[in-house]
Amino acid sequence: MYRLIRPVLFRMQPERAHTITLGVLQLTGAFPPALAVARRLFAGPQVPVRAFGLDFANPVGLAAGYDKDAIAWRGLASLGFGHLELGTITPQPQAGNPPPRLFRLPDDRGLINRLGFPGRGADFAAQRLHKARKHARTILGINIGKNKDTPNQEAARDYLALLERFADLADYLAVNVSSPNTIGLRRLQARQALSDLLAEIARKRRTMASQPAPPGSKQNEPSGSQPSAPNPSDQIASVSGQRTAGTPAEPPRPPILVKLSPDLSDGELEDALDAIVSTGMDGVIATNTALRRPRLRSPQAGQGGGLSGAPLTGLANQMVSKIRRLMGDDFPIIGVGGIMTPDDARRRLDAGANLIQVYTGLIYAGPGLVKSILNSL
Ligand code: FNR
Repeated sequence: MYRLIRPVLFRMQPERAHTITLGVLQLTGAFPPALAVARRLFAGPQVPVRAFGLDFANPVGLAAGYDKDAIAWRGLASLGFGHLELGTITPQPQAGNPPPRLFRLPDDRGLINRLGFPGRGADFAAQRLHKARKHARTILGINIGKNKDTPNQEAARDYLALLERFADLADYLAVNVSSPNTIGLRRLQARQALSDLLAEIARKRRTMASQPAPPGSKQNEPSGSQPSAPNPSDQIASVSGQRTAGTPAEPPRPPILVKLSPDLSDGELEDALDAIVSTGMDGVIATNTALRRPRLRSPQAGQGGGLSGAPLTGLANQMVSKIRRLMGDDFPIIGVGGIMTPDDARRRLDAGANLIQVYTGLIYAGPGLVKSILNSL
């Protein structure tokens, strides 16, 4: 079916095609019979994975950037994903960069985007999640970033506000310090800057954990998809919002992962991982889009912005292998970047990813990609 729809979408401006598909998914989510049909169509086999204290129905997730304002997550959840990463959400609404800012590279099966976090801000997204959070059948991650106007020295303020806002609405948070389209953002990946930022985030999370969770918050209800109720000690511990004496030590909630750039050198990657582990963060998401350009054939290859899709496959795979080698078996890694086929997905998991995410693959292969990956696992 997508083979018929794709040529129509590909005749439109990429951002317009995206707005339309997101709108269709939003409508699907608001209309229970359509939701039921989509679920039946797209459901793949269960391939349960436990990672950073959460139980995922399967390892395939939606990467950040697709549903920035959390408007279509119900519809997206019906496409068979084991998790959805929504955002990047910034504290205040912002317009992003002037269009055109999204480009297809059909000869390379890639995209270049320089969106720059357009979005309606934290209040809007929080409301969207608050209303219907209880019905989420999948794990919901929230990817957080700073506003363009916030200088790097004050970036912590933005991340802390977002942590506070979304801790109870999300199953996990992703700290985005790697998008190439917000000037200076990626400098927050440098050793000292990242240590300072993550230390503040960790401190805030500890403070929040010692306060009771609000009634009806994510902490007080089974999280995510059907087989994914948190283990009993998690629930006991979080009803009061406190760790009960005698229960085994549980990781602090919410789990916080850090999303990294594929353009980091080996030394920069080691520094970043050092900061991530020493501040007690729960894992990494590798990778965001790339500024570097391998050899590309499409006419739009010269556009500025972050490259995604097939040209990123090798680079992102290598990065996951490197992280796994450096960090050992137990460190949670979400692998993302250039997963376009079931083979790519299997290779990424073999390279050491516990979970994977897709974005550009969906544009080229359609939503059936999730099920075909699951069937192949
Ligand atoms: C993205 N990506 C992204 N990442 C992020 O952390 N926050 C964001 O807001 C966005 N926005 C965004 C918009 C568009 C149009 C694209 C194509 C990508 C990056 C995305 O989550 C992913 O890391 C990369 O695209 C690599 O994966 P794929 O696309 O090759 O599967």
